[in-house]
Amino acid sequence: MKRVAIFASGSGSNFQAIVDATRLGELEADVCLLVCDKPDAYVVQRALQSGIPTFAFNPKEYASKQHFELAILEELQKHDIDFIVLAGYMRLIGDTLLHAYGGRMTNIHPSLLPSFPGKDAIWQALHAGVKITGVSIHYVDEGMDTGPIIAQTAVEIDEYDTLQSLEKKVHAVEHALYIHTLQHIFQKERQEV
Ligand code: GAR
Repeated sequence: MKRVAIFASGSGSNFQAIVDATRLGELEADVCLLVCDKPDAYVVQRALQSGIPTFAFNPKEYASKQHFELAILEELQKHDIDFIVLAGYMRLIGDTLLHAYGGRMTNIHPSLLPSFPGKDAIWQALHAGVKITGVSIHYVDEGMDTGPIIAQTAVEIDEYDTLQSLEKKVHAVEHALYIHTLQHIFQKERQEV
């Protein structure tokens, strides 16, 4: 069974959906660690309630990205982590983690990449006036929401959509798509072994 660490910075609805899916047997993986760069984020409470160990850190307390990524790497090794799932981790991954986990790290982004990378992607799509946006899952490289795309689902924007209603539609798609995509990746890897 894959030993997974989830990285998140915010509310953690994707974190929760993934943890629930592992416990329901819909996703064959063990979520063994939460890594969070915002110790006050709600996702930390979720991890506590779900009994998942957390490494929550304040990046400002480290001299550089390399320093805090080395601290993260130590935690990942301590928990014997095979795979990293970024779920709303609002920080670029640096060389230290890329070298250790390149090809074993995915990200979810709330747009049809390569459109609308970066922050506030749902807002960006709404304000660009596009009629279709969506969700992308991709492998992580050194760029911002770049890296090979693994799966995408489209979400229609209708004329009555507000930021709130569109966020709701996008989130509903995110959870199912991330679980399904991870299951597919892990299953494929098991077959290749
Ligand atoms: C999700 O919509 C995710 O796609 C987005 O952050 C949100 C986290 O929600 N990620 C990015 O924008 C990455 N560039 P959550 O904390 O409820 O899972």
